Amino acid sequence: MNDRDTAADIRRLLREKNAVLLAHNYQRAEIQELADVLADSLDLARYAARADKPLIVFCGVRFMAETADILSEDKTVLLPRPDAGCPMARMADTDSLSRMKERFPGARVVTYVNSTAEVKAESDICCTSANAVRIVNGLNADEIIFAPDRNLAHYVQRFTDKRIIPWDGYCYVHNRITADDVKESRKLLPDAVLMVHPECPPEVIDLADEVQSTGGMVRVAQESKARRFLIGTEEGMITRLKRENPGKEFYSVGPARLCRGMKTIHLKDVRDALEKEQHRIVVPEPVKTRARRALENMLNEG
Ligand code: 13P
Ligand code: SF4
Repeated sequence: MNDRDTAADIRRLLREKNAVLLAHNYQRAEIQELADVLADSLDLARYAARADKPLIVFCGVRFMAETADILSEDKTVLLPRPDAGCPMARMADTDSLSRMKERFPGARVVTYVNSTAEVKAESDICCTSANAVRIVNGLNADEIIFAPDRNLAHYVQRFTDKRIIPWDGYCYVHNRITADDVKESRKLLPDAVLMVHPECPPEVIDLADEVQSTGGMVRVAQESKARRFLIGTEEGMITRLKRENPGKEFYSVGPARLCRGMKTIHLKDVRDALEKEQHRIVVPEPVKTRARRALENMLNEG
């Protein structure tokens, strides 16, 4: 069966099963094109919280599908590949978090959504890359334990007087982008706007014109009068930017960066997930209720 037939099957199954297809901006082009909602992790969480269809097929990584399950109450959430994971999410664990809380008893815990449901459950509030600075500055505390991304923690520290106590996690996709990659790319395209994700290392952030979540990148690319952009993030984002801005040019900073977890999902996995209603993501209680509190605290901040 070719991709066109598989895509037609998916559309039919979505209708028959009254399902919605949510996809992250790093998904493969053919999945991006089929998605009912294509967005960053914050907008996907917001959508899941108010989804009106009983079945959600989530094309992203596990922590995103877990977030959808936690926020969508009585909906069924399917992750087309059970092995679609984010290694950073597994870099923080509840035992180490407890020890950190003991060391810094006055600190509040802000946890990036790229984390397990268990760690969210032990946190005061969650954040994404789109709202991390606002969430931290909105908290009534001088010290913030920030888990698990040390690069995002470092980025937030630039915009707050609070003391950020970073976890030592990182994203292997963004952490590989180097200042040398930026300098080489700049030499080739000196007039391009350099736009990077805040999961990049601090020395890359220092050189950027724009630091944005993937949703922010979509907005800046649309609104900017510039014609050329150098993008420091996963290549699925560049795929979307090119498709939606045909008059503009988008290039990767250094070699194209692929997230294995995101790219593990193919069209046939989406079709199989719908057909067999697999692989259901269910966050168990009491973790679910406690993690929901931290996620809702984030969503209530707007
Ligand atoms: P966004 O929230 O910007 O979509 O990022 C999610 C992510 O996993 C980045 O690596
Ligand atoms: Fe996780 Fe990095 Fe992939 Fe984002 S790009 S899902 S942080 S591994």
